Amino acid sequence: MSKTIIVSNRLPVNVTKENGKLHLKGSIGGLATGLGSIYKQGNNLWIGWPGLLINQSNERINVTEILKDENMHPVFLAQEEIKNYYEGFSNETLWPIFHYFSQYSVYKEIYWESYVKVNQKFCEEVINFVEAGDTLWIHDYQLLLLPEMVRHKLPDLSIGFFLHIPFPSYEMFRLLPWRRELLNGMLGSDLVGFHTYDDMRHFLSSVSRLAGFGYSTGQVNMPDRKVIVDAFPMGIDYKKYAEAAASPQSIEREARYRTSLGDQQLVLSIDRLDYSKGLPQRLMAFEKFLHEYPEFKEKVSLVMLVVPSRDRVTKYQELKEEVDLLVGRINGQFGRINWTPIHYFYRSLPLEALSGFYRMAHVALVTPMRDGMNLVCKEFIASKLDKKGVLILSEMCGASKELSEAILINPNDINAMVQALYKALTMPEEEQIAHIEVMQKSLQRYNIHHWVNMFMERLEEIKTSQKSLATKYLDQKTIDNVSMKMEKAHKRLFFLDYDGTLIPFSDTPEKAIPDHELLKLLEDLTDDQRNQVVIISGRDRKSLEGWLGHLNLDFIGEHGVWLKERGSNWRTLTRLSGKWKTEIRSVLELYVDRTPGSFIEEKDYSLVWHHRKVETGLGELRTRELNSHLNYLSSSMNLQVLEGDMVVEIKSAQVNKGRAAHQWIEDFPSDYIIAIGDDWTDEDTFKAMPEDALTIKVGSTSSVAKYNLISPEEVRQFLRQLC
Ligand code: UDP
Ligand code: G6P
Repeated sequence: MSKTIIVSNRLPVNVTKENGKLHLKGSIGGLATGLGSIYKQGNNLWIGWPGLLINQSNERINVTEILKDENMHPVFLAQEEIKNYYEGFSNETLWPIFHYFSQYSVYKEIYWESYVKVNQKFCEEVINFVEAGDTLWIHDYQLLLLPEMVRHKLPDLSIGFFLHIPFPSYEMFRLLPWRRELLNGMLGSDLVGFHTYDDMRHFLSSVSRLAGFGYSTGQVNMPDRKVIVDAFPMGIDYKKYAEAAASPQSIEREARYRTSLGDQQLVLSIDRLDYSKGLPQRLMAFEKFLHEYPEFKEKVSLVMLVVPSRDRVTKYQELKEEVDLLVGRINGQFGRINWTPIHYFYRSLPLEALSGFYRMAHVALVTPMRDGMNLVCKEFIASKLDKKGVLILSEMCGASKELSEAILINPNDINAMVQALYKALTMPEEEQIAHIEVMQKSLQRYNIHHWVNMFMERLEEIKTSQKSLATKYLDQKTIDNVSMKMEKAHKRLFFLDYDGTLIPFSDTPEKAIPDHELLKLLEDLTDDQRNQVVIISGRDRKSLEGWLGHLNLDFIGEHGVWLKERGSNWRTLTRLSGKWKTEIRSVLELYVDRTPGSFIEEKDYSLVWHHRKVETGLGELRTRELNSHLNYLSSSMNLQVLEGDMVVEIKSAQVNKGRAAHQWIEDFPSDYIIAIGDDWTDEDTFKAMPEDALTIKVGSTSSVAKYNLISPEEVRQFLRQLC
């Protein structure tokens, strides 16, 4: 039976050692608590670090055995790796950049080297467990390189990746010296998931600007495959939190807390100790609230649970001191014998204790500076069985996109937090109930099971579509078949597109000069008297003639405007006029003025606006504008507007590659025809071919062609085999 292998840096349990004995303890953090409750199905496996330095081999064996019973497998980290990969690159380089704290980010080569090494280590562990048909689901920023590493070893494996923290805007991400490697690492996946649409947008923007891959509607077009990118907002195990809140243990805890805290209103905050969580700002807001609304003194307390986290990283240590000082200052300033403004706990608590807190709190104050999702706010809502309570939520966390019934605040705006506290503490009960009800409905529906299903179904879909594409891939067996047919044919006709088919794209059209290898290939192909080779291109006559005129080739230029058989002169199929060019050129000039880096190419009967060197995004925007600008003009002038790879081409509607190719099929009867092309102007060629012709599309987008090849390199290999 096939299985799902989950891989994350930290396992959902930490191994601890007390009095020389090993114990398992639930890990803290959204990833572990979110996925931890559902992964145990069938023979699924979770691979990750058990959170403790274990060097002795007998102890490693013990831990491996203990975890085996839990369907987990440990990846042990050495002291240096914990320091450089985990505390270093993951939490001193990536975490601050991804949370927009670029001033905290440390760029050290030694961290990077360790990050690569540990990702490699995870890769080796994964490979040991993967079997045919398995699915691999990799999680979070500590393992950004892992998808590509695994893909390299197991090209057909179904690989999903999910990032639990925000993906920063391109302006932040590009600060990283290893930005390209990181993107390429992630792009080893079939599906890359984020919590929000914004994260997804930022990722796609970095991919196109830094890795140079184009994208459309959430799909990155890699040379050999597609990577799907989508938003999957993570939910919670709703039932688990609702049931915990109804349990006698949680009710008993609440009663106990209440006895010591009295009947004052309680504001709750729960986070790991992390600068991304906005703890000092939150404390300052509470302090200001007590100044501005003194009537709440002795009537409200802040219960603040702070869970120790990454306490060997300097910025976390500094934050601990800052929070301790602030809590001391506020309690010292306002505290009375019978009232403590802030009840501060620096530890982690088990579910029933958390649930008691959630039950008892009137207000949850969740104000991160940045947070991928934030599950605490969702758990609070799910625990409100009587629907009474108010959520104050930062706009900067993923959850704010779903929980719009909360009081949303900007965590940098202390005044807004003060006002939100006042509003929350004075909100009428009916209003509280109305808001909580809406949020509960949504959280019930979009729960953790829904999240896993959505992600997995999408991954499955992608695999299925890849398989159907793979059946169209021109494999060796088909090539052998083609060779046999070719052998039998006395006369063969080839239609070969040039750019993107025989030669890869370059940033300016004049740079795509045929290399020695290509010239030799075409020479060998045409040396065989049985072969007639037509170069069918959008290029002008001059370029085609200049580059390839010395070979024994036929030509179709400017998308079918110009035709030339071997040994004869250029001719056109119909009488064409180029008068329209003056008017259209003036329109294109306007776009060149407005779009630095773009330029116009003029051919005999067509004009092309190129935007390959234009800032990413701007070229696409101008293309849309230009298209609508030309819409009216082109129909009145009987012109056709073609959108190609970073170009917009305008030509007479009377001509296309298909019509021109048809001329050859009529004039030069043959036993076997092969047509190869990469863009949608080549679709006209494919359509013009007789039923038994071999048509090949270069690239993985849909086409009427019978087969696919992935790159010009593969086209050359194929033709070489036929020579
Ligand atoms: N949590 C816990 N014990 C604690 C405090 C928190 O189990 O003492 C859990 C909490 O219930 C939540 C997770 O830790 O599920 C924190 O996840 P969140 O997404 O809010 O923040 P992250 O730590 O992932 O940044
Ligand atoms: C966040 C991250 C997780 C991480 C958790 C706890 O939730 O997204 O990947 O496991 O924090 O952090 P830690 O460094 O203790 O694993």
